[in-house]
Amino acid sequence: MAKVISKELKFGPYKVLGKAIATGGMAQVYKVENADGETFVAKAILPQYLKDRRKKARFLAEFEYLQKISSDIVVKPKEIVDEKGVCCLILEYIDGIELTKIVKKIAPINRGAATHIILELCKALDECHEKGIYHRDIKPENILISKSGEVRLIDLGVVRHVDTKRTLPGTVLGTLDYMAPEQIEGERSDVSNTTDLYALGVILYELLSKKLPIRFTAKDGIIDVYKKKREKLPKPGKLEDLDLETIILELIQADPSDRIQDVLELEGKLLKSTNRRKVKKAYKTFLDRFSDTFYEDKASKKASQKTGQKKPSPKKDVKQIEEQESIPEILVSNPEEHKAFFVMIGFTFILLVLLVVGHFQNWWDLIGIGSGIISKVKSL
Ligand SMILES: Nc1ncnc2c1ncn2[C@@H]1O[C@H](COP(=O)(O)OP(=O)(O)OP(=O)(O)O)[C@@H](O)[C@H]1O
Ligand SMILES: [Mg+2]
Repeated sequence: MAKVISKELKFGPYKVLGKAIATGGMAQVYKVENADGETFVAKAILPQYLKDRRKKARFLAEFEYLQKISSDIVVKPKEIVDEKGVCCLILEYIDGIELTKIVKKIAPINRGAATHIILELCKALDECHEKGIYHRDIKPENILISKSGEVRLIDLGVVRHVDTKRTLPGTVLGTLDYMAPEQIEGERSDVSNTTDLYALGVILYELLSKKLPIRFTAKDGIIDVYKKKREKLPKPGKLEDLDLETIILELIQADPSDRIQDVLELEGKLLKSTNRRKVKKAYKTFLDRFSDTFYEDKASKKASQKTGQKKPSPKKDVKQIEEQESIPEILVSNPEEHKAFFVMIGFTFILLVLLVVGHFQNWWDLIGIGSGIISKVKSL
């Protein structure tokens, strides 16, 4: 799909950096770079859909929706590259981690941080809903936390029939976990702003407990999932945090009219349960753990791979100090060793004298040689 020009993979003027970051049902996502060295993401439609006009129009609609939104929480669109054999959306690159991975590695997270993430998403959804745009695919894979801790929402506004996410008959992909029952039914007219709120409820539950509020087995087909979503709700008291649990239960009601009705209502309830100051502080604590897990470990591992050294453990630190202290000991002179050295020199000297004496056999010879040397020196 991308052009190969002098061994470089390119989408229009954008150079592709490495392999695809992700491959979805309709597109592949690449990290790319422009001529100025600025990094972006190219979301390229899969080649098999290039000639399907309806699919292509739906794919390009994401760009139009993105252009309508000004919230910083939503990924920013740059341009469309639509050339022969290539069609892709160029978007702001978010250097971050999918919420899916965060849940997997560090959930449950503290209530303040979980509240902060939902409140940030509320900011984005507030604008989207006001403009009549329903995301319809809010799930942890489509939420990124940037390296510096900003919450970002991606993959916007592509209306998909739920069947496209089915794998084998009778089994479903995880995506249905976040879908409200009316969305699973597939009636587009039933989808509303509260459909997105339902997804926020599921995510909040997952952040606080690492579990889904309504669980499915691998054997559950789409009908089973739908039925469970309509008929089952977690019993109150399963979460330690009763305030947040009440809010969640109000978000994941099967009937949209029983749910919290809009983003503002949700924001109000969340802020009543924790004030902004506490939320901010708690988010900072979460970010420390986030950085330790996803960035600092990686950085130190990389550095140690380069130098061939392992990150020193506290025990090793002590050993290193001991080793450093032992170096001067080797260099410092030892009186016992000195004594032995002089004894050796003395012994060798005596041996040499005895050899010379043995060579001339007679002391008188030696005296004769000595007086000869002395008289020669005197005559000089
Ligand atoms: N702007 C971005 N910055 C960084 N990573 C991104 C960005 N957009 C997408 N990604 C990564 O690529 C993955 C897939 O992107 P995205 O969700 O937009 O497409 P998709 O789910 O494959 O789309 P579709 O479901 O329409 O086929 C994301 O989960 C994320 O990891
Ligand atoms: Mg996605």
